[in-house]
Amino acid sequence: MNKFSERRSRLRSLLAGESGIVLFIGNVESAAQYRDNGYKWRQDSNWLYYFGIDEPRFAAIMDLDSGSETVYADDYDIDDIIWTGPMPSVASLAAGAGVQQSAGYAAFEADASAAVAAGRKVHFLPVSRYYNAVLLSRIVGAAPDALFSAGKKGCPLASVPLVRAVVQMRLVKDAEEIALLDKAGELGYRMHTVARKGIRIGRIEQEIVGDMEGVTLAGGWGTSFATILTQHGEIFHCHSHANPIEPGRLLLIDAGAESNEHYASDHTRTYPTGGRFTPRQRDIYQIVYECNELAFNMTGPGVAYLDCHLASARHMLEGLGQLGLVHGDLDEMVADGIAGLFMPHGLGHNMGLDVHDMEDLGEDLVGYDPGQKRSSQLGLGSLRMARRLVPGNVVTDEPGIYFIPALIAKWKAEGTDKGRVCYGKLEEYLDFGGIRLEDDVLVTPDGARRIGPSRLPASPEEVEEAMAND
Ligand code: GLY
Ligand code: MN
Repeated sequence: MNKFSERRSRLRSLLAGESGIVLFIGNVESAAQYRDNGYKWRQDSNWLYYFGIDEPRFAAIMDLDSGSETVYADDYDIDDIIWTGPMPSVASLAAGAGVQQSAGYAAFEADASAAVAAGRKVHFLPVSRYYNAVLLSRIVGAAPDALFSAGKKGCPLASVPLVRAVVQMRLVKDAEEIALLDKAGELGYRMHTVARKGIRIGRIEQEIVGDMEGVTLAGGWGTSFATILTQHGEIFHCHSHANPIEPGRLLLIDAGAESNEHYASDHTRTYPTGGRFTPRQRDIYQIVYECNELAFNMTGPGVAYLDCHLASARHMLEGLGQLGLVHGDLDEMVADGIAGLFMPHGLGHNMGLDVHDMEDLGEDLVGYDPGQKRSSQLGLGSLRMARRLVPGNVVTDEPGIYFIPALIAKWKAEGTDKGRVCYGKLEEYLDFGGIRLEDDVLVTPDGARRIGPSRLPASPEEVEEAMAND
């Protein structure tokens, strides 16, 4: 059987207790300023997973009661062909995805609306694009804004059984997906290597970004998210690349490649701009490196990724304690979330067709097992993957230590640390910036391995040696 038919048949069996229809809505082209000048085309990931047709304006209905499946899209007419060339017929593209029935795109809305009018249950996923929200809102009669995932809590109107079934399937990557992730990982390795070799005092950050993103476009679809390349690692999503590379700084590069088949990579490395760490930078780097290694070594089937986060946080506090930045009982500091001052993000997230895999479906449903409760603490509360791991899970391992002046000032003013933070010492680090080290990790039957054929230099020695040879 065709891989897409197989996936849909599995989805159908996971939905065995449900009746009604399931809607799948592929993406349409999105205008940037006007219709004929759009954002770069990217298909919806759920659509890609179940149908694989990488063309705009496709949708499908799976009827859970009759067992029928229909793909909806319009064949190209001469006006399309003049501008974009011919496209295989919709019927043949549908057949390639294992679907025998096809109809025009307008019939999708008509058929789905008829099912609603007949009082049938209509299962749909949260949308990720506004165009699809508008279409779906006409079908189900809800406001477009209510059809998106509201971050952690997901979309209350979407079908929970459908979301759970899709998450269950996409969380465990099959052999073909793992091969595609390795391919994206190899491209990510090359993009980061070009970046590292391009670090020179006086160059503008943007020049390095251009060189590294060029690698992803030459070897794949492009970047898997907006590149972070900054000497202000303490600003998490810093997308400004206007600064010249200065001596004595740390350059944090968090960037990923997307393969032509749309699987992601996501790596972070932090480099001393002149090729050698200062003693103070090295001390902090060493702690982050050890946290990354510790989490990787713990990762394996049956281990909750939440526990990898907590172990990493504990090790971080131990290291920061040895530097005189915090003091107190380690377990109590972990329980009170003191690590959140230094790492106000989670240890990692799922990765696959999306860099934050399935985040459009609702973070809690994706990343938390039933019964696992999400923390409200700074840092731990941002953990996107807490689940007990099973073979085939792909997660990022991305601890970091950051010195965020505004956050330090707030904790100090509010006494959040309950006396554990040595502010006198910490204030010497206000100009430090931040360090993060991120690898992509596959859970295997007997442990874990990193995605991709090679690991980027990670230990302080490896980094300095690589930079000396660049
Ligand atoms: N690598 C970017 C992120 O995980 O948010
Ligand atoms: Mn990441």
